[in-house]
Formats: sequence, C-alpha cells, structure tokens
Amino acid sequence: MATEQADEHPRLRPGLGRLKGKVAVVTGANSGIGRATARLFAREGAKVLCCDIQEKIDPRVDELIRHEGGEALYVHIDVTKQDDCDRMVAAALDRFGDLDILFNNAGGAVRKKIHEFTDDEWNFVIDLNLNAMFRVVRAVLPHFMKKGSGNIVSNSSTYAFMASAEYPAYCATKAAIMNLTRSIALDYGPYGIRANCVCPGSIDTPRIRGFPPKPLLSGNGPSQEKMRARAAGSTKAMRRMGNPEEVAYAVLFLASEESSFITGHGLVIDGGQTIAV
Ligand SMILES: NC(=O)c1ccc[n+]([C@@H]2O[C@H](COP(=O)([O-])OP(=O)(O)OC[C@H]3O[C@@H](n4cnc5c(N)ncnc54)[C@H](O)[C@@H]3O)[C@@H](O)[C@H]2O)c1
Repeated sequence: MATEQADEHPRLRPGLGRLKGKVAVVTGANSGIGRATARLFAREGAKVLCCDIQEKIDPRVDELIRHEGGEALYVHIDVTKQDDCDRMVAAALDRFGDLDILFNNAGGAVRKKIHEFTDDEWNFVIDLNLNAMFRVVRAVLPHFMKKGSGNIVSNSSTYAFMASAEYPAYCATKAAIMNLTRSIALDYGPYGIRANCVCPGSIDTPRIRGFPPKPLLSGNGPSQEKMRARAAGSTKAMRRMGNPEEVAYAVLFLASEESSFITGHGLVIDGGQTIAV
C-alpha cells in the first residue's frame, strides 16, 4: 500500500465521534463519493463495511481507513446481484455484530440519446442505479425491522429534479431514487427506520462508468478539462465542481442522530446549480 502520498481527501477533518459505536455499510466505497464517505464514517467512529465491485485500487479504501486507525472490512460485491447484497449484510453482522447505517451509493451511467441505446445499455443503468438500490434495501430491512432502528441514505442527484442532455437513463433512475426514498421513509418510519437521499450536483470524481464499466474519461469521451469546465459552468453560484468530501459531510449529517427528525428528504449539495436557469 502506498501510504506516503498527499491525502486524497484534504477536506476531511479529524472525527468528533458522531458515529461512535455504529456499524455502516457503504456501497461503491472504493472510489469517489463512497470512498470519501467511508473514510469520514470511520473517522467519526463507525466500523465500516466497504463494498465495491472493483478492488484493484491501491490503496484500497479499507486499507486507507485501517492505516489511520479506523475499523474497516472490504467485501467484493456486485450490488446488482441479490446474493451479493445478502452476503454484504451477513458480513457486517458476522464481523461487526450489528448494522445501523446503509449508504446506498454505487451507481453509474451511459451518456447517449434514447435512440442510440441498446437494451443492454439501458438495462445496465436501470439495474445498477435503481434495481440495485431496491435489492440492497431489501437485504438490510429485515435486520433494521428486527432491531427497531436503521438509517438508509441513498445517492440520488440534482438530476432527480432537472434533466441533462443525452442522459435519459441516468436522470430517470435518479428521479426514481428520490421517490423510492420517500416510499421507504413512509413504509418503514413506524419501525424506527429513516430513509433520505443526497442530491449532489457536479462532483469531481472518477465517475460516469461506461458499459461495461470503464474508467471515466478514457477512450473517446470528452477530455477531463472539458468535463470540468462544463460542470463548473453549470454551477451558477459557486462556479466550481464540488469535492467528494463536501458530499460526505452531508451524508454524515443524514446518517447521524443530528438529523433524527428528517426522513424522506433529498438534501441538495450543488454549489447553487439548481437555483438558477
Ligand atoms: N460525481 C458526481 O458528479 C455525482 C453527482 C450526483 C450523483 N452522483 C452519484 O454518486 C454515486 C457515486 O458516484 P461517484 O461520482 O463517486 O462515482 P465513482 O465512479 O467514482 O464511484 C462509483 C463506485 O461504485 C462502484 N460500483 C460500480 N458498479 C458497482 C456494482 N455493480 N457493485 C458494486 N459497486 C459498484 C465503482 O466500482 C466505484 O468504485 C453514484 O450513484 C452517482 O450517480 C455523482
């Protein structure tokens, strides 16, 4: 593990024990928003089950967490497979003895117009962004219901409220996640379970997986510089992209007791992207 490099999340501050004694599962934990959030959860005292489909990243997020004194376990899973989701919950209970928080974060996209989509590409996005959320939530609910408490935070997007050109499947799934969150909040509030989502604007991460998933900005896609400029230009107020840490702190708020009367909510973290046309 390469340890002596600059901290990739310089905005993460020392923890204040806001998740002390909690066990959290983070999906899509090895990159981007999930990676920063897993680290923040650990700094705040949570034991973190880091779940991802890709593990060949040095350092892997759980290694990074343990390196700075936190508790974490890595589980290689594909959130589109129900067996993997069930295995993830079993691993949290087996290793950490409990499960309190789910950050439903893994996601990806294919950017093209509807008439250019193949069925496989369309289904890939719906399966990864929407069906997987259903499967992961279905896997954690029996434990949360038995326990009489639980906290689910999902990763939606400002594209739950607005559309972006050549992004139909992604925008459709992110809007669906918003309303799925409200449905979960309604049905499981009586069990002491809260469900919220974050709606990030343009965040600087290696995102937008292709089909099959590939690193962003490789191949024929727009250059990294162009993507950044386009994203910053759409953020009218702050005129920059956000950092994964800036989303992680919003996730932490929703995952902690500090938000104990908030449920079914979509918290926008967008530097002002949605306040102006
Ligand atoms: N970056 C943004 O601008 C932005 C804005 C709004 C919402 N989001 C949402 O945030 C979430 C994370 O995005 P990101 O930008 O950090 O992306 P990212 O590509 O950096 O990270 C996504 C992670 O999910 C993992 N993953 C992909 N498919 C998986 C699968 N089947 N099973 C398990 N893990 C899988 C990837 O390996 C990767 O580690 C996504 O849901 C995305 O839609 C991102």
